[in-house]
Amino acid sequence: MTTVTSGLPDAAEQLIRGRRATRAFLPDPVPDETIEAVFALAGAAPSNSNAQPWQVEVVSGGARDDLAEALMSADRAGRRTVDFPYSEDIYSSVHHRRRAAFGAAVYSALGIGRDTHDLRAAYDAQSLRFYDAPHVALLYAPESGDARLTADVGMYAQTLLLAMTAYGVSSCPQALLSFYADTVRETLGVTGGKLLFGVSFGYADPAAAINAVTVGRESLEETTRFHH
Ligand SMILES: Cc1cc2nc3c(=O)[nH]c(=O)nc-3n(C[C@H](O)[C@H](O)[C@H](O)COP(=O)(O)O)c2cc1C
Repeated sequence: MTTVTSGLPDAAEQLIRGRRATRAFLPDPVPDETIEAVFALAGAAPSNSNAQPWQVEVVSGGARDDLAEALMSADRAGRRTVDFPYSEDIYSSVHHRRRAAFGAAVYSALGIGRDTHDLRAAYDAQSLRFYDAPHVALLYAPESGDARLTADVGMYAQTLLLAMTAYGVSSCPQALLSFYADTVRETLGVTGGKLLFGVSFGYADPAAAINAVTVGRESLEETTRFHH
């Protein structure tokens, strides 16, 4: 029989539903002790055979500014490289429908209309400054790119996001950063591994309209079947 510790379900609801992608940050840095506590907690994530196949680069201060500069310069030069191949074909029609609803919510909060590709590209370019977050973590999977090991890095990532939420730190996972994999590698001197995505983090700007965007989820029946 499972025993439920009093108060934990409520805390879990608050923690898990309280996390959301933040796309405007205040400049205030997160104290070093908090950063260490959060990344130490994230390391408690489960993984296949406890291999813990993640490698994480946490970037702050001048190193963060240098990385943002390098990313924007790579973007201006059209220098995009990925460690994990990407194509729109990975999405099914139902995925496309959900993505479109998400895109509409975000771009309307930004005042960017449909089919305004230039404005969307400009927003992406600006996102390379981590939405002004003072910190960014780059998450690497093993060089093999094996799906099971890469899934472990996903387990780590969500554990990290929840640990941040618990400590009052806001975050945005950014696949966008993985489109500049060589630039990130060269700038940070990373050897080995494949860049899966980055996580910008810091304190949310409460005045920013973009941070008020919430996106819904499919109903339980849509994604989950219970067999008895
Ligand atoms: C692996 C991953 C990559 C993501 N990449 C981006 C990104 O590049 N840019 C962005 O604005 N949001 C990105 N997001 C945030 C998602 O858009 C967001 O999690 C989703 O819309 C659900 O919203 P919520 O996190 O606020 O619940 C990413 C999320 C994940 C998990």
